[in-house]
Amino acid sequence: MKIGVIGLGYWGPNLLRNLLAIKDIEIIGCEKDKKRLEAIKTMFPNVTYITDYKKLLNDKEIKAVVISTPVGSHYSIAEEFLKEGKDTFVEKPMTKSSKEAEELIKLAEDNNAVLMVGHTFEYNDAVLKIEDIIRNDEIGEVQYITSTRVNLGIHRKDADVLWDLAPHDFSMIFRWVDSNPVSVSAMAKESVFKGLPDVAFIQSTFDSGMIVDIQVGWLAPSKIRETIIVGKDKMIVYDETNPQEKIKIYDSGVKVEDPHDYGEFLLTYRSGAIHSPKLSNREPLRMEMNHFVECIRERKKPHTDGYNALRVIKAIEMAEESLKEKKIITL
Ligand SMILES: NC(=O)c1ccc[n+]([C@@H]2O[C@H](COP(=O)([O-])OP(=O)(O)OC[C@H]3O[C@@H](n4cnc5c(N)ncnc54)[C@H](O)[C@@H]3O)[C@@H](O)[C@H]2O)c1
Repeated sequence: MKIGVIGLGYWGPNLLRNLLAIKDIEIIGCEKDKKRLEAIKTMFPNVTYITDYKKLLNDKEIKAVVISTPVGSHYSIAEEFLKEGKDTFVEKPMTKSSKEAEELIKLAEDNNAVLMVGHTFEYNDAVLKIEDIIRNDEIGEVQYITSTRVNLGIHRKDADVLWDLAPHDFSMIFRWVDSNPVSVSAMAKESVFKGLPDVAFIQSTFDSGMIVDIQVGWLAPSKIRETIIVGKDKMIVYDETNPQEKIKIYDSGVKVEDPHDYGEFLLTYRSGAIHSPKLSNREPLRMEMNHFVECIRERKKPHTDGYNALRVIKAIEMAEESLKEKKIITL
């Protein structure tokens, strides 16, 4: 089976490398920047390359494409391939608006094509383990989640930090909890380029009653990837940068005891054992590309399909509107 990989800048080569590891897959790499293409050819010499993706559109042997170009071009490129009935993987964020996302979903359905979005964290074993823990009710009802995703750079030109980084946090949260934001409030700072927020704080309330605080930034002294999930009974700390103990489950909480006397207020603080479950070392991108190929071959709906992308985009749109209107956006 032949698959085209379009856009071989920073991220595309990772997708290409993982596709190359799958049996019976032939890759056509497409990069419009000739200088970049020369560098890629030395990294992956056994791949056929082109500079114009339009050549893939009418190639009957091309079954599917993987699009890893800057976000502003996702919609127009994906639209062309879906119209040809080709299975299409689009990097996150799938599009720059929910209207565009809805159009791609419809095109995929009308043309019986697979549409998948690169929400990489949904193929990460730590994230999937946390999903199991929450869904098996091991930590009790989720009260709140805080998520910090900051480091120094890379300042993108065509997407601000909200669109670049917050899709990761929202996609993980949606994976863990069946609930949607009912209000979103965002604050951001344009520290380096005017008109391009590079630090943002997003706060939302969800219809389950859970509250969420997401901090994303390209301007921080060190890389932090930490998500804290506090349930009624237990708490989880997920640190993606920790190679050994990515997840720690704290048997900690507070209980209100029955008062012995009228007016007495008794709380018991529990700070019990800390458990760190063993995780495999599978590369999330390998899982993601395997899943895309499986969906193509078996005509399955991807875990991260167009609707999954749409939900994330709607949350980012609420945050963007909050920034513009300088108010809390409610549904
Ligand atoms: N899932 C993740 O964790 C993750 C991580 C990083 C980036 N990304 C996503 O990957 C996408 C690409 O990001 P990046 O950092 O690699 O950007 P980049 O700018 O480094 O690379 C994009 C490449 O696409 C090429 N390109 C643009 N238009 C093209 C066209 N019409 N035909 C062929 N090539 C074209 C550019 O020349 C460039 O080399 C973005 O959507 C980004 O959000 C996802």
